[in-house]
Amino acid sequence: MIKLMIFFIVFVSISPSIISQNLTNCERSCPYSPLTQVPYPFGFSSGCQIQLNCTYNGSVLIGEFSVQQINPDDLLVSLPAMCGRQVEALSLLYGEHYAPLSTNAILLEMCTDPKENCIIPATTLQPNFENINCSGVQGGYGNVSCYSGDISSNFLEYENITRMGCRRLFSGFITDIIGDSRAVSVHLQMIKLGWWLKGSCDCSGDADCIKVVSPVDGSEGHRCNCKSGLEGDGYAAGSGCREGKGMPTLNIRSVY
Ligand SMILES: *[C@@H]1O[C@H](CO)[C@@H](O)[C@H](O)[C@H]1NC(C)=O
Ligand SMILES: *[C@@H]1O[C@H](CO)[C@@H](O)[C@H](O)[C@H]1NC(C)=O
Ligand SMILES: *[C@@H]1O[C@H](CO)[C@@H](O)[C@H](O)[C@H]1NC(C)=O
Ligand SMILES: *[C@@H]1O[C@H](CO)[C@@H](O)[C@H](O)[C@H]1NC(C)=O
Ligand SMILES: *[C@@H]1O[C@H](CO)[C@@H](O)[C@H](O)[C@H]1NC(C)=O
Ligand SMILES: *[C@@H]1O[C@H](CO)[C@@H](O)[C@H](O)[C@H]1NC(C)=O
Repeated sequence: MIKLMIFFIVFVSISPSIISQNLTNCERSCPYSPLTQVPYPFGFSSGCQIQLNCTYNGSVLIGEFSVQQINPDDLLVSLPAMCGRQVEALSLLYGEHYAPLSTNAILLEMCTDPKENCIIPATTLQPNFENINCSGVQGGYGNVSCYSGDISSNFLEYENITRMGCRRLFSGFITDIIGDSRAVSVHLQMIKLGWWLKGSCDCSGDADCIKVVSPVDGSEGHRCNCKSGLEGDGYAAGSGCREGKGMPTLNIRSVY
């Protein structure tokens, strides 16, 4: 009896979105994906607030880019170094509900008006891409231009990037300022997208609302974050917030 109850608690805390899944008529599972069940407001069918693509082999995609993590504030998306990728692919990352954050830098090739504002000189990064040889393609790595976002704004300025007149999207990286220092850590071949839902706040009572202005069309948006110590999607229409799931695990250990 005790074991049964504990199993129930664990089940609820690990798979809360199963409960709300049917209500919203949104497919939230992507078979074979490490992300298996994605939280509200994400999903893979047209009934979902933020629709991602799920491939038959379990890749969760935005455009051609694979989503690695869905976090309360951002999506971690891989942007692998590649020769010859059309720059238009970048526009797919500027969606109705997400866009690259200003803490990213984008590496481009074949630019007519390169603007070197990079937080790290593009040549410094070159050794990290040694095994990628674009020389066969016009404008190999040696000619890569790097655009870093202006971190006083929230999102990476798409217009500024297009103004560089580049034809190839080579890769990108995430920068994190370490503490108060001037040191920067770099996460290569990945970028972070900020995400939002359209309209004014619609969070559950125990969540904070973060207002977001869409960089794509300037419209009003928001994101919900459960208050400290709680976890969940934080949305009134989702599963809201609950106590952290550390607890049921501890319960199991105390039983066995
Ligand atoms: C889930 O939705 C389907 C149709 O979309 C319906 O047939 C089924 O009864 C629903 N299940 C629950 C538990 O609501
Ligand atoms: C899924 O298949 C595509 C090609 O269709 C491939 O590029 C990708 O790497 C595959 N993903 C996984 C996780 O195997
Ligand atoms: C998902 O795939 C469809 C069809 O290829 C495409 O129209 C849509 O833009 C894709 N959505 C995302 C988020 O990549
Ligand atoms: C890159 O490829 C070109 C021709 O495809 C070759 O001449 C060159 O040596 C290669 N460079 C490196 C660093 O492998
Ligand atoms: C490198 O870029 C410049 C313009 O930024 C261009 O004139 C030059 O031809 C490019 N070099 C190669 C090898 O493509
Ligand atoms: C982007 O362009 C705007 C308008 O031209 C400019 O004010 C801003 O400083 C640019 N941002 C960066 C990071 O260069």
